[in-house]
Amino acid sequence: MTDILGNMRRTHNCCELSSGHADSEVVLMGWVQRRRDHGGVIFVDLRDREGITQVVFNPDFNKNVHEKAHAIRSEYVIGIRGKVSMRPDGMSNPNLKTGDIEVFATELKILNEAGTPPFLIEDSVDVSENVRLKYRHIDLRRPNIQKNLILRHKSAESVRRYLNGLGFIDIETPVLTKSTPEGARDYLVPSRVNPGMFYALPQSPQLFKQLLMISGFDRYYQIVRCFRDEDLRADRQPEFTQIDLEMSFVGEEDIMGIAEGMIKTLFKDVSGKDVKTPFQRLSYAEAMDRFGLDKPDLRFGLELKDVSDIVKTSGFKVFADVVKKGGIVKALNAKGCVEFSRKEIDDLTEFAAVYRAKGLAWIKVKEEGWQSPIAKFFTNEEKEKLAQRIGMENGDLVFFVADQSKIANDALGHLRNHIAGKLKLIDENEFRFLWVTHFPMMEYDETEKRYQAMHHPFTAPLEEDYGLLEENPLAVRSRAYDLVLNGSEIGGGSIRIHQKKLQERVFTALGMSPASYNEKFDFLLSALDSGAPPHGGIAFGFDRLVMMLCGGASIRDVIAFPKTQKAACLLTNAPSETSREQLDELCLRVKTVKA
Ligand code: AMO
Ligand code: AMP
Repeated sequence: MTDILGNMRRTHNCCELSSGHADSEVVLMGWVQRRRDHGGVIFVDLRDREGITQVVFNPDFNKNVHEKAHAIRSEYVIGIRGKVSMRPDGMSNPNLKTGDIEVFATELKILNEAGTPPFLIEDSVDVSENVRLKYRHIDLRRPNIQKNLILRHKSAESVRRYLNGLGFIDIETPVLTKSTPEGARDYLVPSRVNPGMFYALPQSPQLFKQLLMISGFDRYYQIVRCFRDEDLRADRQPEFTQIDLEMSFVGEEDIMGIAEGMIKTLFKDVSGKDVKTPFQRLSYAEAMDRFGLDKPDLRFGLELKDVSDIVKTSGFKVFADVVKKGGIVKALNAKGCVEFSRKEIDDLTEFAAVYRAKGLAWIKVKEEGWQSPIAKFFTNEEKEKLAQRIGMENGDLVFFVADQSKIANDALGHLRNHIAGKLKLIDENEFRFLWVTHFPMMEYDETEKRYQAMHHPFTAPLEEDYGLLEENPLAVRSRAYDLVLNGSEIGGGSIRIHQKKLQERVFTALGMSPASYNEKFDFLLSALDSGAPPHGGIAFGFDRLVMMLCGGASIRDVIAFPKTQKAACLLTNAPSETSREQLDELCLRVKTVKA
């Protein structure tokens, strides 16, 4: 039997050797990071997952091996045998863990050649993300991304250890299943044996974990892939991973306690950071009022102020009319920004317009008085009230948006984050966790002209709001909670409905007919009627959590094979067309779509 390795067996990795190994014989294997020919002596930086070691091919030390080393190129896979030697005085490399030593090669095996790589295997490499994703197998050789994926592995391990220790049982749930509404479109899979029928890929294992509680498993968890066909962003992927859990006989406090413990353990285990628990809490109503968003970043102030009551009778018609029509006027005080230029203000107005704000009124507070296109519309009394409510001081620049509360909050909430970034108010090393609680059960979807569950339709309403389900559904608050970290939603869950009657009432309030909910959720309703314990749970966005732990800006940096903005995998070219035969087998016909 021949083996390309022959009698070579690796003794160490490329980050292991130090002065203590001097004079010993070692065998290393890895990739050629760089080859330098210094007039006779060839130096090779040999790389593996753990690090880099310098290998020396010196003709005075071993002529044959030196000769052979001329063939080596970047990214060749080689094995070397050699002698560890201290580097000469002054030649140590303090930037390298193995920088005190080098290995003088006595044997070289070229295990594989490699074509010229499309980019350098370095963290600082300047190359477009599309090229990196096309050659992802090479991109994944970069130390930073290897570090990220190793940290991801350690995170999963920490979470498992924590949950296992608390009696959670890891149970797998189906991937070919029925639609689980989480607010996105489903990915569908055609069934060959049932022509014309489709499975949906799970948007989450929501209903299965509830069924497992009904089956008596008590505490379930799973680190599980979920699929959602929705518009992508820096922190969204069409397939992503949740740490999903569910518990029986619990209330909000139990689940939040377990979740806080899990996060605390995770941060300690993988980054040595001490996270303070319990986390701060805000009701949805308060978060919206003070920050305009249901996932506020609490690392800085700049709180919003509602001034509707002050301006509703003012001479500025835009503001007065909005309030009369049931809208609101809110203000954001950009402290100390009085020197912002016209251009900067125009840019911010454009920024707010992305969130559908129809304008961005402003007031500069100067020594000599207010400078503003709208100041002239306010009486002295109104001015005084505004100044007091908003805390206006010399040097401030105040922005206003008047609109339906949804738009005003959204625009100013995002503007608040944007300005904090612009003013560098954010301490990037801080981790601010926050629970947002008591979300409304439903919201009104203007395009679909119907009520929609804000979390999912299996979330329990607050008991004191049951009575509102029929008469004022938008006022019903739910037992849902989101976990927010630095302005990013990293988890969400709720106490569930565990009684059939209440579940039917909620379906009805959401505008579903009995025929429609029975068709979709018959199995759930029947399960709820078979002895369902009170239960609740939560799911964390695992990719997002790891992204925060790595300090990364994109979720794609912590996923081995991510998809692009257009939900494509550039490496494998998925999605792709399929053969006529396959379509026939599935009884499918493809409508031609113009590109
Ligand atoms: P939810 O829909 O809030 O809840 O999802 C839980 C968490 O998953 C993450 N997440 C995503 N991460 C990356 N890409 C996406 N497209 C994406 N969508 C969501 C977020 C989010 O907080 N079944 C419920 C949980 C429950 O009620 O127990 C659920 O899925 O960080
Ligand atoms: P106008 O009277 O339309 O020229 O507007 C005067 C100022 O009010 C401008 O700075 C506009 O950007 C601002 N503005 C107009 N509509 C709104 C609105 N809905 N909310 C906040 N500011 C607005």
